[in-house]
Amino acid sequence: MNNGNPDNAKLLEHEADGIKELDNLLPPWWVWLFNLTIIFSVIYMIYYHVAGAGDLQAAEYTKEWKRGEEIKSASIAKFESGIATLTPSQDKEIIGTGGEGHRLFVTYCAPCHRPDGGGLVGPNLCDNYWIHGSNYVDNVKTIINGVPAKGMLSWRGVLNPDQIKAVSSYIYTLRGTNPKNPKPAENTVTAPTGPSAFE
Ligand code: HEC
Repeated sequence: MNNGNPDNAKLLEHEADGIKELDNLLPPWWVWLFNLTIIFSVIYMIYYHVAGAGDLQAAEYTKEWKRGEEIKSASIAKFESGIATLTPSQDKEIIGTGGEGHRLFVTYCAPCHRPDGGGLVGPNLCDNYWIHGSNYVDNVKTIINGVPAKGMLSWRGVLNPDQIKAVSSYIYTLRGTNPKNPKPAENTVTAPTGPSAFE
């Protein structure tokens, strides 16, 4: 069998299409790595599944999600506590066409208030008749709290504080613009009810 070639001693009996196999030992590092994975899997199973000592994915996710929600609520609470002193942004990057506030308005608000703010399901935001107060802070509050009974959604937690400031600043620029065929004034309360562009 040997035929002078030391490898021939390791030749296994079987053969397929002239291809033969040598019975080589696996390298020790490979064998040890393999053994370690088995040891690891046993420890893993006991730790997570038998003893229940560690969090599985779902529990980890829930914990992180809760932590995220806490950070979010804290930031919203901080924003809301300082609302009374807010003033509209003058930054063109926010209130200009294509700016953050404009983009948010077109995406989230225009379906009900029309892209030009003239009003559709929601009231006209360009005239000086306001249902929930005419000044910037009134608007911010309406946007945060919504008027669920009347179809105005609450944007608390949907838009972050910076986005709420941006979109409120944008609608502030709509005041006094006269879009075509606006929704008739909601006559419940007439403006002005506070410091606004109309005072
Ligand atoms: C699903 C429709 C809808 C969407 C979307 C919507 N609104 Fe409204 N909005 C309304 C309605 C309806 C009212 C009137 C509520 C009432 O009659 O009390 C309103 C009222 C308002 C008011 C108060 C107007 C006033 O006269 O006092 C502001 C400000 C406003 N919305 C801003 C926004 C902004 C900003 C967005 C986008 C982030 C938005 N709305 C998205 C339907 C909507």
